[in-house]
Amino acid sequence: MSQPAISALYAGHLREMMARADRALAAQGYEGLIVASGSLRYLYLDDNSYPFKPNPRYRSWVPDGTPDCFVVYRPGSRPSLVFHQPDDYWYMPPALPEGYWVGSFDLKVVRSPAELKQSLGGAMRWAVLGEPSAATEGLGDHDPVALANQMDYARAAKTPYEIECMARASAAGVRGHRAAEAGFRAGASEYEIHLSYCRAAGAREEELPYNNIIAFDTHAAVLHYQHLERRRAPAVRSFLIDAGAQFAGYSSDITRTYAAASGDFQSLIDALDAAQLKLADLVRPGRDYREIHLAAHRAIAGILVEHGIVRGTPEAAVAEGVTSVFFPHGIGHLLGLMVHDAGGFMAGPEGGTRPKPEGHPYLRLTRDLEAGFVVTIEPGIYFIESLLAKAKTNRTGHMIDWKRVAALQPFGGIRIEDNVVAYAGGPRNLTREAFAAAS
Ligand code: GLY
Ligand code: MN
Ligand code: MN
Repeated sequence: MSQPAISALYAGHLREMMARADRALAAQGYEGLIVASGSLRYLYLDDNSYPFKPNPRYRSWVPDGTPDCFVVYRPGSRPSLVFHQPDDYWYMPPALPEGYWVGSFDLKVVRSPAELKQSLGGAMRWAVLGEPSAATEGLGDHDPVALANQMDYARAAKTPYEIECMARASAAGVRGHRAAEAGFRAGASEYEIHLSYCRAAGAREEELPYNNIIAFDTHAAVLHYQHLERRRAPAVRSFLIDAGAQFAGYSSDITRTYAAASGDFQSLIDALDAAQLKLADLVRPGRDYREIHLAAHRAIAGILVEHGIVRGTPEAAVAEGVTSVFFPHGIGHLLGLMVHDAGGFMAGPEGGTRPKPEGHPYLRLTRDLEAGFVVTIEPGIYFIESLLAKAKTNRTGHMIDWKRVAALQPFGGIRIEDNVVAYAGGPRNLTREAFAAAS
C-alpha cells in the first residue's frame, strides 16, 4: 500500500479516535484529554535505562514512540502533539516526527516536558491518561477509570488503519519465521535462529513485541520458554517458534511448529493445523469467543483420541478435563498495541467483567467478537512433564496411553498461532495471508 493510501487510512483512524474521545469526555464531564507517552525508566543504582515502551493509550493516537511527549485534544479542535526534543549531547535527540500522520497534528516542539503546562493555556478540566509525572501534576485527573474503560473497550475493534498496520507487522514477522525455519533445517542453534529472525524481520530485540520463543525438542513443552541455547544440538527432532514483529506499535504474534522428519509428530502437527484453520473460521462478529475456546478443546480431544494418545471418546476427554493436560492455556486473546490487548474481559464500556468458562482460568478474552476485532487463534498440544505427572496419578490417568505419551514427549509440543480479523463476510487471516504472499 502506498504512502497516500496509508495516510488516508490514518486520517480515518484519527477521526475515529477523536469521536471516541468526544463521547468519553462528554460522558465523564471533562473538557479535554492529555495522553502521555511515558518516561524512560532507569535500572536500580544505575544510569542505564530499560528499553522504552510507550503508553499504548498514547500509541493509539500516534505511531510516534518518543519518551515524554503528549497528545493534547480538545473536542472541536485539531489534536496537538507536544513533542519533547531535548537539547542533549549524550544521546541523539529524537528527530522531528515525519511521515503519513504528522500533518494531522499541530506540532509543538518543547525542550523540556515541563513546557507542557505553558503550551496548554488556561486551566481546564483535563483527563490525563498515562503515568503521573511532574509534567502533568496538578493538571487534572490521572487515568480516570470510567473514561479509560470507555476508551479501552472501544480499542478492541480495530480501524482499517490499525488492520493495515497489523498486516504489515504480520509480513515482517513472517519474513522472520521463514528465516527461522531455514535455520532450523540447516542445523542452526536456537540462538543463531533468533539472530536470523531479527535480521529478517528487520528488528532489534527491543523492537520485538515480546521475547522470541525459540524452542527445540522438550523446550517446546515450556509455554513461554525464555532461553536461547547457544550450542548446536546434534539431532533436533522438533522446533516451535513463537515470534512476532511490530509496525507503528501494532504487533503480530505468530507460532509455527516443525518436525525434522515425517512420522507421528508430523501427523500430529498436520492434524492440529487442520483444526486450527477450522477454529480460525469461527472468528466472526457475534461469536462468543469463549465458544471458540471450548470448540478448541473438542477438536483437540478428537485429535488425541484419533492419534491413540487418549482412550475413550472425545466427549469424555473434554468432560473429564483430560484435554487440559495437553492444552493448558487459552485459545487466544485480543491483539493490537499490546500483545494481550486491552479490554479482553470487559462486560461493557462502563467496565464490569465477563467471566471465564468454569475450569478454564487462562483464557484471556471472554467477549463477543465484533467486526474489526483482531484475535489470535493458537491451539496447542504439549507433553508437559509436570502436568503429565499429576495426570498419571489422578482418577483419569487410565484414559491416557502412557506408552504413546512417552514416545511423543521428546518432541515437546505443538502450537500453531494465527492473527485473525473478524468480519461479517468471513474472517481475514493476516498470518496465512502473509505466509502465502511470502512463498
Ligand atoms: N506470544 C505470546 C502469546 O502467544 O500469547
Ligand atoms: Mn498469542
Ligand atoms: Mn504467541
